[in-house]
Formats: sequence, structure tokens, C-alpha cells
Amino acid sequence: MATNITWHPSLTHSERRQLRKQQGITIWFTGLSASGKSTIATALEQHLLHLGRTAYRLDGDNVRFGLNKDLGFSEKDRNENIRRIAEVAKLFADSCSVAITSFISPYRADRDAARQLHNAGAPGMAEPLPFVEVFVDVPIEVAEQRDPKGLYKKARAGEIKEFTGISAPYEAPENPEIHLRSDQLSVEEAVVKIVKYLEEKGYLS
Ligand code: PPS
Repeated sequence: MATNITWHPSLTHSERRQLRKQQGITIWFTGLSASGKSTIATALEQHLLHLGRTAYRLDGDNVRFGLNKDLGFSEKDRNENIRRIAEVAKLFADSCSVAITSFISPYRADRDAARQLHNAGAPGMAEPLPFVEVFVDVPIEVAEQRDPKGLYKKARAGEIKEFTGISAPYEAPENPEIHLRSDQLSVEEAVVKIVKYLEEKGYLS
């Protein structure tokens, strides 16, 4: 536990926003493995970059190669994974970037804590930052049939323990800002739906 630390204030988010002419946001994707969250998140990132926005995607697999390489898939490690990512996403959003996170983030309480962190702000960052939860919803049978990395097969064979949807829980969002059925929408349609929402909220103006 850190002690004797002092918050050093910098520009407020409003001041940054005026200078950068861009609203910072976190777009938080959640869904089963193979639900399509990384594919849609990547397409969204590319779309926003082509619009001239600063956007950056934080991906579950990728982040575990570096920042979170000390974490596995126990409940406690997943809690810590999401806690760290929420903090990092908030820093990206505060810098006026669009932070796009694609993590299974299976526990409702962890996602709610990430939202709360954006709502509350730390000392010196007291302005709320928009947090948009995107539920990439697909029946587990479809995810299992897709199985692009062969992980469901391994989980069924008992070669992967605590696999989400098979031997570890996934708590679906109850009230996400955006609900996508990835087996009923193309990637492009999903991106259009998200961008429309962001425009309606004035986050892209
Ligand atoms: S979590 O639950 O949010 O902490 O998971 P996340 O950081 O998003 O990592 C999910 C990716 O890790 C791979 N993988 C597993 N997923 C679920 N359960 C277990 N046990 C597991 N082991 C490895 C898998 O490639 C996940 O990527 P996606 O893109 O979701 O398929």
C-alpha cells in the first residue's frame, strides 16, 4: 500500500478537451470468448482513426503479454485484470483519446467498478468521463462453434481450467448502453450502431 503520496494536478479534462477538440471516452466491450468483441472493437478503432480521432484499443490477450502478464484466470486475477484496465482506460480517456477495451470482463461488479471509476474521478480528475458499455452477446453454442482459437475444445476436454462459460461464470450486463447480437449483425452494422450512439450523445462532435 502506497503512503506519503500527493496528487499533482494538471489540466482538467475540460481544458484538455478544448485544446484537443476531442472528447475522451471509454468504450467498454464485454462478452464471451469468441463473441466477436475484439473483431468489432478493432473495426471501431479503425473507423475512428480514419475519422481523425485518437483511439486506442486495449485487448485482453494483448495486455496479458505485458502489463498483466502476472495474472491468470482465477476470479481474483480477473478482478485485478479489470481493475488495472479500468485505471488505464481512464487515463487514455482523460487524455482525450477514445479508449476501447475488449476484455471478457465476466463479473458485473468489476464492470460496475470500472464505470464508477470513470464517473467519480480521482483527486484532481474530478470530472466524470463518459463510459459506454457494449455487450457483445452471442449464445454460447455459437461461440463454441466458432472457436477460432480452439479454446472451447480444450476447455471441454479439461485442458483449460476456469474457462468462461464452461467452467467459470459470465455475468451478462443488465443495462448496457449498447447491446449487439453478433450472430445477427455484420461487423460493419455493429460499428455503425456504436458510432450512431456516440454521435447522438455528442461524443464525436
Ligand atoms: S478476463 O476474464 O476479462 O480477465 O479475460 P481477458 O483478459 O479478456 O482474456 C481473455 C482471453 O484469454 C484467453 N483465455 C481465456 N479466456 C477465458 N477463460 C480462460 N480460462 C482463458 N484462458 C485463456 C482467450 O484467448 C481470451 O480471449 P478472447 O478474445 O475473449 O477469446
